Amino acid sequence: MKILYFTATGNSLAVAKKIAAEENGELISIPQVMNGENLNYEDDVVGFVFPTYGCMIPFVVKNFMKKITVKADYTFAIATYGMSSGAILDEAEHVSEIAGYPFDYVNKVLMLDNCQPQFDIAKQKEALPKKNVEEKTDAIMKDIQNRAKGHPKTGFSDKAGTNFCKILGMGKPNPKYDNSFSVDENCIKCGTCAKVCPMANITVTDHVEYHHNCCTCQACIHACPTHAIHFKSERNTERWRNPEVSLKEIIQANDQKNR
Ligand SMILES: Cc1cc2nc3c(=O)[nH]c(=O)nc-3n(C[C@H](O)[C@H](O)[C@H](O)COP(=O)(O)O)c2cc1C
Repeated sequence: MKILYFTATGNSLAVAKKIAAEENGELISIPQVMNGENLNYEDDVVGFVFPTYGCMIPFVVKNFMKKITVKADYTFAIATYGMSSGAILDEAEHVSEIAGYPFDYVNKVLMLDNCQPQFDIAKQKEALPKKNVEEKTDAIMKDIQNRAKGHPKTGFSDKAGTNFCKILGMGKPNPKYDNSFSVDENCIKCGTCAKVCPMANITVTDHVEYHHNCCTCQACIHACPTHAIHFKSERNTERWRNPEVSLKEIIQANDQKNR
């Protein structure tokens, strides 16, 4: 089993790790391989785990899905999300069909919503126990072990959600998204923000510089050890990293120097 994943704050990696552990699967971080040539993935099972951005697949993941080849007896995609996943599973099926490896199984896991500034992360943390993340992840894990096939139906309101996000221009690359960030005097120039950025979009010298190649994932904001990076309109300085995932694992997943 090979699992290709994308993560900013560890939710998707936590799910990927759990699925992989059952079958001694290999975890492959998309940012570590996405700029390579001849990306061919062959195994008994090949799966994807990624977050939902604007009720759609993050463009980094979608572009990767389109450019690789996959040869497997069983393929799956799991989207993590925080409030509404829209029609993301339909999109995953569509993209995989075009790419030549239609997913046998798609599903989604409701987790903490890490999107600043839309959500108050403190309130998200309080609400998390009600989301039953473990039960849902376990059920998906069992489905995959059983090589279940299935595509949950997407309702009208979910389709409308994705359409609305498209109208707002979400889902398209927005490289200057980093203009919405500011760095305050608590910055200790440790470079963590640069290491967790999957786009190599940040350099740290005597100051932090964003280079307008942002993929909107917000890993830098959440991982900063002194909470010095802010959305200009954020609600508070509460931040998130999934407790099943260490900072080191996020860096291993995203640091472009690891490539
Ligand atoms: C830019 C951005 C957009 C997001 N859009 C959505 C969304 O449309 N619907 C949703 O339910 N969650 C949305 N989220 C929340 C993430 O999908 C969710 O927290 C995910 O589990 C994060 O995974 P990660 O920790 O692996 O990065 C968004 C997060 C970000 C950063």
